[in-house]
Amino acid sequence: MGERATTIATVPALAEVERDAKTCTRCQLAHGRTRVVFGVGDAGADLMFVGEAPGQQEDLQGEPFVGRSGQLLDKMVLEEMGLTRDRFYIANTVKCRPPGNRDPQPAEIAACGPWLEAQVDLIDPKVVVTLGNFATRLLLDDTRGITKLRGRAYPYRRGVLVPTYHPAAVLRGAGDLAAQMRADLVRAKQYLGGGTAAP
Ligand code: URA
Repeated sequence: MGERATTIATVPALAEVERDAKTCTRCQLAHGRTRVVFGVGDAGADLMFVGEAPGQQEDLQGEPFVGRSGQLLDKMVLEEMGLTRDRFYIANTVKCRPPGNRDPQPAEIAACGPWLEAQVDLIDPKVVVTLGNFATRLLLDDTRGITKLRGRAYPYRRGVLVPTYHPAAVLRGAGDLAAQMRADLVRAKQYLGGGTAAP
């Protein structure tokens, strides 16, 4: 009942924020985009993933993580957490594609921040999984890199934040990143079932 009430209230509010975001011109990325990639999934979910920025496929289709990284993410989330995309929400730190897939710049991340904040406020997930340096540093307000920050859960809003690698880093195949990312997803699943992180 509580869960259902949240979903009913959240969906229209999130749709309204998305409608506004679609015409956003708060940073220079607006000029080069094909589509604003706002986010997709279950607005009432307990689980939310936050990535970096749309790539070429995402820019064309208007949906996050639909390219090779997304396929790997979907496979790992299904295998380690037993969840398909309709069971969580997924968004990025910046909503428009940086030219040539360059890193998002601090001013772009700051300009886009209020959209992500509105998404996290409205969805109010129990578990946030950040994918890679940009999302992790932003949401944890920490300058350390993902290699240092991953491997544990952090208290975050009403639940926890679990940092892990960006799937593109896993695809590049350095070391045993895939195994570490799988371990992080298992950790996230454990917190979905309840539990709090030590500060
Ligand atoms: N990488 C991201 O960080 N986000 C996407 O949506 C696609 C690739």
